[in-house]
Amino acid sequence: MEIAAGILGTGTALPGKVITNHDLEKLVDTSDQWITERTGIKERRQAAPEETTSLLSAEASRKALAMAGLEPQDLDLIICSTISPDMPLPSTAAFIQTQLGAHPCCSFDLAAACSGFLFGATVAEQYIKTQKAKYALVIGAELLSRYVDYHDRATCVIFGDGVAAAVFGPVEPPSGILASEMHTNGAFADHLYIPAGGARKPASCETVTARDHYIKMRGNELFKVAVRSMEDVSRRVLEQANVCPDQLALFIPHQANQRITNAVRDRLGIGAEKVYSNISRTGNTSSASIPICLDECVRSGRIKKGDLILMSAFGAGVTWGGLLVRW
Ligand code: UT7
Repeated sequence: MEIAAGILGTGTALPGKVITNHDLEKLVDTSDQWITERTGIKERRQAAPEETTSLLSAEASRKALAMAGLEPQDLDLIICSTISPDMPLPSTAAFIQTQLGAHPCCSFDLAAACSGFLFGATVAEQYIKTQKAKYALVIGAELLSRYVDYHDRATCVIFGDGVAAAVFGPVEPPSGILASEMHTNGAFADHLYIPAGGARKPASCETVTARDHYIKMRGNELFKVAVRSMEDVSRRVLEQANVCPDQLALFIPHQANQRITNAVRDRLGIGAEKVYSNISRTGNTSSASIPICLDECVRSGRIKKGDLILMSAFGAGVTWGGLLVRW
């Protein structure tokens, strides 16, 4: 009999420091009104210097493991989706494995930007279904404030810091992951990228002076690709599982921009009451956005056993992915 993979526990770790739109008005030529109307964001979190991606990941993971009733030693696989790792080498997943006190196990970082949690969930699903792993931890972990240029109003108003984790494991059908998809198209790589700090353009005094170690984004062009891709991948996973939008209990889109969420929701014909949004409080936390939403919904009782939940995301690469789960 085929094994079904599902989500057994979730957990979040958000830095305590809140950056409001009014705080950003003091740094760049922007306004609370512009940010609210164009993005839906009112505030976002910012990590303190001593907070690291691995530290917050371990905190979120402990909460997810506690909800699942598991110990770190139960894990066979740890996937950390991040574009803001502790350091280029070694992987942040290696630090998380040690900080949790998990047994040495297959642990790696995954770079799919804002789609990364859904990519990680799909990888975990394959490991569990093929019995290569019983329990897998997937973390979406981003300290984007470390890569945001606080002189660039086009990006600094959007991104925020946050981490959330989910434990995946075997579940009794009909619960579990019903369909998943992952896609990448590098033709749009220059729409959202960090030019320097990698092997192509190593960090130097010149790259720092040119501010090339910060995120560069062509937001307006990305917006259109994001809406099209999230609509398309959402339809594809729904079709795979023969599920109509009407049957969904909840749609959790990547929190990129409230206007993107609204456009995708309207194109799919999903009622606003079924769409979860926390972007006003967290901003765009890249790969952490979907698991943070998921954790908030689980802990507030918004998700009930048997619910059909659709998740879809879009990010740098460009990447996009979808996941349909029966809780
Ligand atoms: O996480 C997944 C990947 N990321 C995305 O999918 C991001 C998608 N893009 C977006 O969310 C939106 O494109 C943004 C929020 C980034 C920008 O909103 P927009 O409505 O697309 O604005 P725009 O770039 O077309 O700019 C409109 C105007 C420009 O001024 P002019 O040329 O019309 O005079 C910008 O300079 O708004 C200006 N502007 C701002 N004004 C005040 C851009 N950023 C700001 C700002 N405050 N922060």
